[in-house]
Amino acid sequence: MRTIKDRKVVLVGTGSVGMSMAYTLLMANGIDELVLIDVNEGKAKGEAMDLSHGLPYAPNSKMVIKSGGYEECKDANIIVVTAGANQKPGQSRLELTAINTRIMKEICEEIKASGFNGVLVIASNPVDVLTCVAQEVTGLPHNQVFGSGTSLDSARLRFLMSDYLGINPRSIHAYILGEHGDSSFVSWTNCYVGAKSLLDYIDEKGKDFNDLLDIYKEVRDAAYEVIELKGVTNYGIGLSLNKIVLAILNNEDIVIPVSAYQNGEYGQKGLYIGVPAIICRKGVKEVIKLPLNEVDQGKFDKSCESLKKVFTETAL
Ligand code: NAD
Ligand code: LAC
Repeated sequence: MRTIKDRKVVLVGTGSVGMSMAYTLLMANGIDELVLIDVNEGKAKGEAMDLSHGLPYAPNSKMVIKSGGYEECKDANIIVVTAGANQKPGQSRLELTAINTRIMKEICEEIKASGFNGVLVIASNPVDVLTCVAQEVTGLPHNQVFGSGTSLDSARLRFLMSDYLGINPRSIHAYILGEHGDSSFVSWTNCYVGAKSLLDYIDEKGKDFNDLLDIYKEVRDAAYEVIELKGVTNYGIGLSLNKIVLAILNNEDIVIPVSAYQNGEYGQKGLYIGVPAIICRKGVKEVIKLPLNEVDQGKFDKSCESLKKVFTETAL
């Protein structure tokens, strides 16, 4: 597998989410150059200075970290966008649509004008909607644009199931599917402990399926709870984005649930939504098709409908 040399990442949006990712990238020794862009230029500059001051103690002390403008995008391998408003306590992700669409359009016009032709990763919310906006504005191929989707929700699910079952989360293979938001769902028949069906496993252990439903509810409401408690969510998404960025740069071909363009794989076309996909240096290599039963297909379609409604109602 070929990897990328002179790995350059541009981060647009140096708030809580963006800087959490930036810090994990510094510690992962995964990239050579990190450029920070923000409408608040002083913030981007200050963050670049602060991160750089840690370089002597970082794994790659020769990494270049600086703030800059959109001209830096031209030769970047990856751009990650974490710019935009975040939720206030009690606010849903979809309520950010109007304000963040305006911001995403502005940013993506600049990215397009720079001549960027790498992989564009969106994390700003509502992520499925904004990923669609980003692809439309930049005109980049669908595989080169994708969103963090349900990567964070799936990590939350695996963490909570690990706690419940007493098994390392790395051995729990389970995805949250659909919108990164209130209409997400779990297809329990597609969840595994090692190579064993989760449903068979809990049956064998005499555990109650209702516990799993409670775990899903906890995942669905996790962001609301964390935002109520500390104002933002940033570390979980920082690590999810780190996983995605390194998968691209290292051409890892690993499966991550992301907001990927739908071309009929799950019976839906023309929108971005959370499904497992193989991530390589060109972005999404392939959407993995899971066998959904009738109930789960209904949930997937409903989640797609709720996103399509946002597009029609807000005339994006
Ligand atoms: P924040 O307020 O801390 O940071 C946002 C940053 O965006 C600020 O630095 C701001 O100056 C910058 N910005 C605003 N408009 C801009 C523009 N036009 N160009 C460049 N920069 C601009 O917010 P945050 O907590 O870091 O959250 C950022 C986004 O990430 C929100 O939309 C939030 O909902 C989302 N988020 C997504 C996930 C996920 O799983 N996808 C998880 C957490 C947060
Ligand atoms: C999350 C953000 C708010 O933490 O989307 O899920």
